Amino acid sequence: MQVLVVMAHPRPDSLTGQIAKAVIEGLQAAGHETELADLYAEGFDPLILPADEPDQTTDNKIYSEAVQSEIKRLERNQGVILVFPIWWWSFPAMLKGWIDRVWNKDVAYGSRTLKHKRALAIGLSASDGPTYAKRGYDTAIETQIVTGIFNYCGIADGRFAYLHHSTAGGERPAEMIQEAYEMGRTFSEGL
Ligand SMILES: Cc1cc2nc3c(=O)[nH]c(=O)nc-3n(C[C@H](O)[C@H](O)[C@H](O)COP(=O)(O)O)c2cc1C
Repeated sequence: MQVLVVMAHPRPDSLTGQIAKAVIEGLQAAGHETELADLYAEGFDPLILPADEPDQTTDNKIYSEAVQSEIKRLERNQGVILVFPIWWWSFPAMLKGWIDRVWNKDVAYGSRTLKHKRALAIGLSASDGPTYAKRGYDTAIETQIVTGIFNYCGIADGRFAYLHHSTAGGERPAEMIQEAYEMGRTFSEGL
């Protein structure tokens, strides 16, 4: 399978960047072809301007060149993995903007939906599982991303994985990198 790994962090050498790299290594170890979309490093502009606003009067809007190129990259892959730090119990504005602009009407919803066999969101979080559960953040984030975006856009097999304690230091970064490698290696299991 060809898998697009989308990374949203201002620094490629961040822990988030290292997690994306480990996921890719795991995917490649399992025989998958990979592409990395490092949104910050590529200078992706997350702001929707009129050229990329959905048009309710047509099913055939031609979006901006930047978005058409992103749509091609998204559609030539059969799997997609989002890797990001959890910021304010959600995902970074950069990634939100990529979804806003690229997962657009008649590309990802409307007259056409996405054909990916599986989508996985990996969120790095400084906090822990019980804290997310206590406030309902876990349900909120997973509903937003898995149900509201993946499933809504036609990807029935959508998943969410946390990597908690991301700022704990010590052994934790190495453990997280190993967990991420395994997520990549086992990504297509059961498909
Ligand atoms: C703006 C901002 C908001 C954050 N909000 C949360 C949050 O809501 N929940 C949480 O668990 N961690 C939160 N964090 C901590 C990040 O998730 C943590 O710094 C990140 O996972 C560490 O990975 P990195 O070294 O790659 O940045 C936040 C960090 C920043 C900078």
